[in-house]
Amino acid sequence: MSLVRVHNFSVSLDGYGTGEGQSMEAPFGHAGTRLHSWFFGTRTFRRMLGKEGGDTGVDDAMARAWSEGIGAEIMGRNKFGPQRGPWENEEWTGWWGPDPVFHTPVFVLTHHPRPSVVMEGGTTFHFTDATPQEALRQAREAAGDLDVRIGGGPSTIRDFLAADLIDHLHVVVVPIVLGRGERLWDGLEGLDERFRIESFTSPSGVTHLTFTRP
Ligand SMILES: NC(=O)c1ccc[n+]([C@@H]2O[C@H](COP(=O)([O-])OP(=O)(O)OC[C@H]3O[C@@H](n4cnc5c(N)ncnc54)[C@H](OP(=O)(O)O)[C@@H]3O)[C@@H](O)[C@H]2O)c1
Repeated sequence: MSLVRVHNFSVSLDGYGTGEGQSMEAPFGHAGTRLHSWFFGTRTFRRMLGKEGGDTGVDDAMARAWSEGIGAEIMGRNKFGPQRGPWENEEWTGWWGPDPVFHTPVFVLTHHPRPSVVMEGGTTFHFTDATPQEALRQAREAAGDLDVRIGGGPSTIRDFLAADLIDHLHVVVVPIVLGRGERLWDGLEGLDERFRIESFTSPSGVTHLTFTRP
């Protein structure tokens, strides 16, 4: 069966995957861009933007697995955009412009479903009010033989970990202390016992951790 994977998910030293106060002006709240500064210089990130060049060290080696063999993504509604509650504006189609970086079906978990949106480049956003198990069934069907990526944010990844649905988790521990926001690890006591864990340090200062189901 296809695998369920998380890649490039950045957390602060105190375990926050996003800051407090997410908004249109501040997608990561008070964290700003600090959780992802390790990523911006990589060749993988520059390619996502259609640019040449970029670093090819440890950070890039870890980052580039993000898209390999992925046939669908599942994300939470707060990653998709800053609106909360019933949609006031269905014209919002995410942060990623007319040709989003995903190039696959993307299932957006929400208690406020709306019609699917077909974007350029193979990305279609489907809005689904479903348990993690049911959303995964839908994503697997769309992905065919390929794997499914759980794209975040922290509360969605936490829910999939709690349901024991994730086979491979790549977390990037960033040496900053956020103090507030949405934490990844809450309620997951003993998670480490379910996985084989490896770590790789990078000159950029981050530590890459991989949790792989044995
Ligand atoms: N650190 C990283 O690498 C990284 C990666 C990706 C995103 N992020 C950041 O993470 C933040 C978003 O994370 P988050 O934890 O606040 O939220 P999230 O996981 O993106 O979304 C949570 C929301 O999704 C909906 N939802 C989740 N599960 C559902 C289910 N089973 N059924 C129906 N609806 C469901 C609910 O919204 P409704 O009830 O309102 O519909 C819920 O409030 C953003 O700031 C984003 O930029 C960080």
